Amino acid sequence: MLVVQITDPHIFAAGQLMEGRVDTAEGLREALGLAQGLQPDLILMTGDLVNDGQPEQYAQLRSLIQSVEVPMILVAGNHDDRPLLRALIADLPHAVEPLPEDGSGRLEYDYRELLSAGGPRIIVVDTVVAGRHDGHISDEQIAALVERLESGERTLIAQHHPPYTSGIGFMDAYGLAGGQRELESLRAVPGVMGVVTGHLHRHAVHHDGSITVVTAPSSAAQVALDLEGGPTTYTDEPGAFLIHLIDGSSITTHVQPLGGAGTWRPSWAQ
Ligand SMILES: [Fe+2]
Ligand SMILES: [Fe+2]
Repeated sequence: MLVVQITDPHIFAAGQLMEGRVDTAEGLREALGLAQGLQPDLILMTGDLVNDGQPEQYAQLRSLIQSVEVPMILVAGNHDDRPLLRALIADLPHAVEPLPEDGSGRLEYDYRELLSAGGPRIIVVDTVVAGRHDGHISDEQIAALVERLESGERTLIAQHHPPYTSGIGFMDAYGLAGGQRELESLRAVPGVMGVVTGHLHRHAVHHDGSITVVTAPSSAAQVALDLEGGPTTYTDEPGAFLIHLIDGSSITTHVQPLGGAGTWRPSWAQ
Protein backbone atom coordinates (compact mmCIF):
# COMPACT_ATOMS: atom_id res chain seq x y z
CA MET A 1 0.00 0.00 0.00
CA LEU A 2 1.55 3.23 -1.12
CA VAL A 3 0.27 6.71 -0.30
CA VAL A 4 2.01 9.71 -1.83
CA GLN A 5 1.74 12.97 0.07
CA ILE A 6 2.34 16.19 -1.85
CA THR A 7 1.86 19.42 0.03
CA ASP A 8 1.88 23.19 -0.27
CA PRO A 9 2.25 23.43 -4.05
CA HIS A 10 1.09 27.10 -3.85
CA ILE A 11 0.07 27.20 -7.50
CA PHE A 12 0.01 30.62 -9.20
CA ALA A 13 -1.88 31.64 -12.34
CA ALA A 14 -0.33 30.37 -15.59
CA GLY A 15 2.95 32.12 -16.34
CA GLN A 16 3.43 33.62 -12.86
CA LEU A 17 6.24 32.74 -10.47
CA MET A 18 6.27 32.86 -6.66
CA GLU A 19 8.23 36.00 -5.70
CA GLY A 20 9.45 36.11 -9.30
CA ARG A 21 11.69 33.09 -8.72
CA VAL A 22 9.87 29.82 -7.93
CA ASP A 23 7.97 27.97 -10.67
CA THR A 24 5.39 26.32 -8.43
CA ALA A 25 3.61 24.67 -11.37
CA GLU A 26 6.84 22.94 -12.39
CA GLY A 27 7.29 21.63 -8.85
CA LEU A 28 3.83 20.09 -8.81
CA ARG A 29 4.21 18.77 -12.36
CA GLU A 30 7.44 17.01 -11.46
CA ALA A 31 6.04 15.66 -8.17
CA LEU A 32 2.95 14.28 -9.87
CA GLY A 33 5.04 12.72 -12.63
CA LEU A 34 7.27 10.92 -10.15
CA ALA A 35 4.30 9.98 -7.98
CA GLN A 36 2.33 8.44 -10.81
CA GLY A 37 5.38 6.39 -11.79
CA LEU A 38 5.12 4.73 -8.37
CA GLN A 39 1.53 3.65 -9.05
CA PRO A 40 0.30 4.80 -5.64
CA ASP A 41 -3.03 3.79 -4.16
CA LEU A 42 -3.73 7.39 -3.23
CA ILE A 43 -2.30 10.88 -3.67
CA LEU A 44 -2.93 13.01 -0.61
CA MET A 45 -2.45 16.75 -1.09
CA THR A 46 -2.35 18.41 2.30
CA GLY A 47 -3.27 22.00 1.57
CA ASP A 48 -2.12 25.39 0.30
CA LEU A 49 -2.89 24.01 -3.13
CA VAL A 50 -2.87 27.54 -4.58
CA ASN A 51 -1.17 30.68 -3.31
CA ASP A 52 -3.99 33.21 -2.97
CA GLY A 53 -7.30 31.36 -3.34
CA GLN A 54 -7.86 32.96 -6.77
CA PRO A 55 -10.02 31.42 -9.56
CA GLU A 56 -7.20 31.67 -12.11
CA GLN A 57 -4.90 29.82 -9.71
CA TYR A 58 -7.46 27.02 -9.34
CA ALA A 59 -7.74 26.96 -13.15
CA GLN A 60 -3.99 26.37 -13.31
CA LEU A 61 -4.22 23.73 -10.55
CA ARG A 62 -6.95 21.99 -12.51
CA SER A 63 -4.81 21.91 -15.66
CA LEU A 64 -2.02 20.26 -13.66
CA ILE A 65 -4.08 17.58 -11.90
CA GLN A 66 -7.00 16.80 -14.19
CA SER A 67 -5.17 14.02 -16.04
CA VAL A 68 -4.13 12.21 -12.83
CA GLU A 69 -5.86 8.83 -12.76
CA VAL A 70 -5.13 7.99 -9.12
CA PRO A 71 -7.63 8.82 -6.36
CA MET A 72 -6.66 12.20 -4.92
CA ILE A 73 -7.66 13.75 -1.62
CA LEU A 74 -7.44 17.54 -1.85
CA VAL A 75 -7.15 19.15 1.60
CA ALA A 76 -7.66 22.88 2.19
CA GLY A 77 -4.87 25.04 3.62
CA ASN A 78 -4.77 28.63 4.81
CA HIS A 79 -3.97 29.88 1.30
CA ASP A 80 -6.99 28.10 -0.21
CA ASP A 81 -10.52 29.25 -0.87
CA ARG A 82 -12.73 26.44 0.36
CA PRO A 83 -15.78 27.06 -1.89
CA LEU A 84 -13.56 27.27 -5.00
CA LEU A 85 -11.67 24.14 -3.93
CA ARG A 86 -14.91 22.27 -3.24
CA ALA A 87 -16.17 23.23 -6.72
CA LEU A 88 -12.95 21.96 -8.31
CA ILE A 89 -13.17 18.67 -6.40
CA ALA A 90 -16.76 18.13 -7.55
CA ASP A 91 -15.60 18.52 -11.14
CA LEU A 92 -12.59 16.17 -11.10
CA PRO A 93 -13.40 12.48 -11.64
CA HIS A 94 -10.48 11.18 -9.55
CA ALA A 95 -10.86 13.60 -6.65
CA VAL A 96 -12.22 11.85 -3.56
CA GLU A 97 -15.59 13.17 -2.47
CA PRO A 98 -15.43 15.11 0.80
CA LEU A 99 -17.97 14.83 3.60
CA PRO A 100 -21.10 16.90 2.94
CA GLU A 101 -20.86 20.60 3.79
CA ASP A 102 -22.29 20.94 7.32
CA GLY A 103 -22.61 24.71 7.42
CA SER A 104 -19.17 25.26 8.99
CA GLY A 105 -17.48 25.72 5.64
CA ARG A 106 -14.98 23.01 6.55
CA LEU A 107 -13.75 20.57 3.93
CA GLU A 108 -13.23 17.20 5.62
CA TYR A 109 -13.02 13.57 4.56
CA ASP A 110 -13.58 10.10 5.91
CA TYR A 111 -12.00 7.91 3.21
CA ARG A 112 -12.49 4.17 3.65
CA GLU A 113 -11.72 2.85 0.18
CA LEU A 114 -8.27 1.54 1.15
CA LEU A 115 -9.63 -0.64 3.98
CA SER A 116 -10.65 -3.51 1.70
CA ALA A 117 -7.04 -3.73 0.44
CA GLY A 118 -5.63 -3.81 3.98
CA GLY A 119 -4.86 -0.08 4.00
CA PRO A 120 -5.81 2.58 6.50
CA ARG A 121 -8.93 4.63 6.85
CA ILE A 122 -8.00 8.25 6.19
CA ILE A 123 -9.70 11.03 8.11
CA VAL A 124 -9.02 14.63 7.11
CA VAL A 125 -9.54 17.36 9.67
CA ASP A 126 -9.92 20.91 8.35
CA THR A 127 -7.78 23.22 10.51
CA VAL A 128 -8.28 26.37 8.43
CA VAL A 129 -9.72 29.59 9.86
CA ALA A 130 -10.97 31.66 6.90
CA GLY A 131 -8.94 34.83 6.48
CA ARG A 132 -6.11 33.75 8.79
CA HIS A 133 -2.79 31.97 8.31
CA ASP A 134 -2.72 30.30 11.71
CA GLY A 135 -5.08 27.38 12.25
CA HIS A 136 -7.55 26.14 14.83
CA ILE A 137 -8.98 22.79 15.82
CA SER A 138 -11.94 23.30 18.11
CA ASP A 139 -12.97 21.11 21.04
CA GLU A 140 -16.06 20.22 19.01
CA GLN A 141 -13.88 19.05 16.09
CA ILE A 142 -11.67 17.04 18.45
CA ALA A 143 -14.75 15.39 20.01
CA ALA A 144 -16.12 14.56 16.55
CA LEU A 145 -12.74 13.12 15.53
CA VAL A 146 -12.53 10.96 18.66
CA GLU A 147 -16.07 9.72 18.05
CA ARG A 148 -15.19 8.73 14.48
CA LEU A 149 -12.13 6.89 15.76
CA GLU A 150 -14.04 4.85 18.31
CA SER A 151 -14.60 2.09 15.75
CA GLY A 152 -10.90 1.28 16.27
CA GLU A 153 -10.04 0.86 12.58
CA ARG A 154 -6.43 1.69 11.69
CA THR A 155 -6.57 5.32 10.73
CA LEU A 156 -4.21 7.90 9.31
CA ILE A 157 -5.20 11.47 10.13
CA ALA A 158 -4.36 14.24 7.66
CA GLN A 159 -4.61 17.98 8.20
CA HIS A 160 -2.92 21.13 6.98
CA HIS A 161 -1.52 22.66 10.18
CA PRO A 162 0.89 20.61 12.34
CA PRO A 163 -0.45 20.12 15.88
CA TYR A 164 3.01 20.67 17.40
CA THR A 165 5.57 23.45 17.81
CA SER A 166 8.38 23.03 15.29
CA GLY A 167 11.04 25.27 16.82
CA ILE A 168 11.06 27.46 13.69
CA GLY A 169 9.67 30.61 15.30
CA PHE A 170 8.40 32.44 12.24
CA MET A 171 6.34 29.39 11.29
CA ASP A 172 5.18 28.58 14.81
CA ALA A 173 3.68 32.09 14.85
CA TYR A 174 1.16 30.61 12.39
CA GLY A 175 0.64 27.40 14.31
CA LEU A 176 -2.44 25.41 15.31
CA ALA A 177 -4.50 26.52 18.30
CA GLY A 178 -5.87 23.39 19.95
CA GLY A 179 -3.10 21.19 18.53
CA GLN A 180 -1.84 19.98 21.90
CA ARG A 181 -5.41 19.13 22.97
CA GLU A 182 -5.83 17.20 19.73
CA LEU A 183 -2.68 15.15 20.40
CA GLU A 184 -3.72 14.47 24.01
CA SER A 185 -7.11 13.22 22.80
CA LEU A 186 -5.59 11.03 20.09
CA ARG A 187 -3.35 9.30 22.64
CA ALA A 188 -6.44 7.86 24.28
CA VAL A 189 -7.99 6.42 21.11
CA PRO A 190 -7.13 3.04 19.56
CA GLY A 191 -6.18 2.65 15.92
CA VAL A 192 -4.44 5.98 15.31
CA MET A 193 -1.50 5.21 13.01
CA GLY A 194 -0.27 8.79 12.93
CA VAL A 195 -0.93 12.28 11.69
CA VAL A 196 0.39 13.75 8.44
CA THR A 197 0.44 17.47 7.77
CA GLY A 198 1.73 20.24 5.55
CA HIS A 199 2.06 24.00 6.19
CA LEU A 200 5.59 24.02 7.61
CA HIS A 201 7.27 23.94 4.17
CA ARG A 202 9.89 21.63 5.60
CA HIS A 203 10.09 17.95 6.47
CA ALA A 204 9.79 17.32 10.19
CA VAL A 205 8.78 14.46 12.47
CA HIS A 206 7.25 14.98 15.89
CA HIS A 207 6.79 12.13 18.35
CA ASP A 208 5.29 12.63 21.77
CA GLY A 209 5.62 9.13 23.17
CA SER A 210 2.50 7.78 21.58
CA ILE A 211 1.49 9.68 18.46
CA THR A 212 3.84 10.35 15.54
CA VAL A 213 3.23 13.38 13.34
CA VAL A 214 5.00 13.63 9.98
CA THR A 215 5.11 16.94 8.14
CA ALA A 216 5.84 16.92 4.42
CA PRO A 217 8.15 19.36 2.64
CA SER A 218 6.57 21.66 0.05
CA SER A 219 6.71 20.82 -3.65
CA ALA A 220 7.31 24.56 -4.19
CA ALA A 221 9.51 26.37 -1.65
CA GLN A 222 11.15 25.34 1.64
CA VAL A 223 11.55 27.54 4.71
CA ALA A 224 15.01 27.87 6.19
CA LEU A 225 15.83 25.76 9.23
CA ASP A 226 16.19 28.61 11.73
CA LEU A 227 15.89 27.50 15.35
CA GLU A 228 17.09 30.87 16.73
CA GLY A 229 14.08 33.08 16.19
CA GLY A 230 15.15 34.97 13.06
CA PRO A 231 12.85 36.60 10.48
CA THR A 232 10.85 34.70 7.88
CA THR A 233 13.41 33.18 5.53
CA TYR A 234 13.15 30.70 2.68
CA THR A 235 15.90 28.57 1.17
CA ASP A 236 16.66 27.39 -2.35
CA GLU A 237 16.65 23.76 -1.20
CA PRO A 238 14.69 21.73 -3.77
CA GLY A 239 11.02 20.92 -3.40
CA ALA A 240 10.14 17.40 -2.27
CA PHE A 241 7.27 15.11 -1.36
CA LEU A 242 6.68 12.08 0.85
CA ILE A 243 6.04 8.45 0.03
CA HIS A 244 4.30 6.53 2.81
CA LEU A 245 4.74 2.75 2.51
CA ILE A 246 2.01 1.19 4.60
CA ASP A 247 1.98 -2.43 5.71
CA GLY A 248 -0.70 -3.28 8.21
CA SER A 249 -0.16 -1.04 11.20
CA SER A 250 3.30 0.14 10.17
CA ILE A 251 4.21 3.17 8.06
CA THR A 252 7.63 3.83 6.55
CA THR A 253 8.00 7.31 5.14
CA HIS A 254 10.50 8.30 2.46
CA VAL A 255 11.37 11.80 1.29
CA GLN A 256 11.65 12.24 -2.49
CA PRO A 257 13.40 15.50 -3.45
CA LEU A 258 12.59 17.12 -6.79
CA GLY A 259 15.12 18.49 -9.24
CA GLY A 260 16.13 15.33 -11.05
CA ALA A 261 19.27 14.25 -9.19
CA GLY A 262 21.18 11.60 -11.11
CA THR A 263 22.06 8.16 -9.79
CA TRP A 264 25.38 6.31 -9.57
CA ARG A 265 26.64 2.97 -8.30
CA PRO A 266 29.58 2.76 -5.90
CA SER A 267 32.50 0.63 -7.01
CA TRP A 268 32.16 -1.68 -4.01
CA ALA A 269 28.66 -2.69 -5.08
CA GLN A 270 29.56 -3.72 -8.64
FE1 LIG B 1 2.04 26.70 2.54
FE1 LIG C 1 -0.17 26.81 5.18
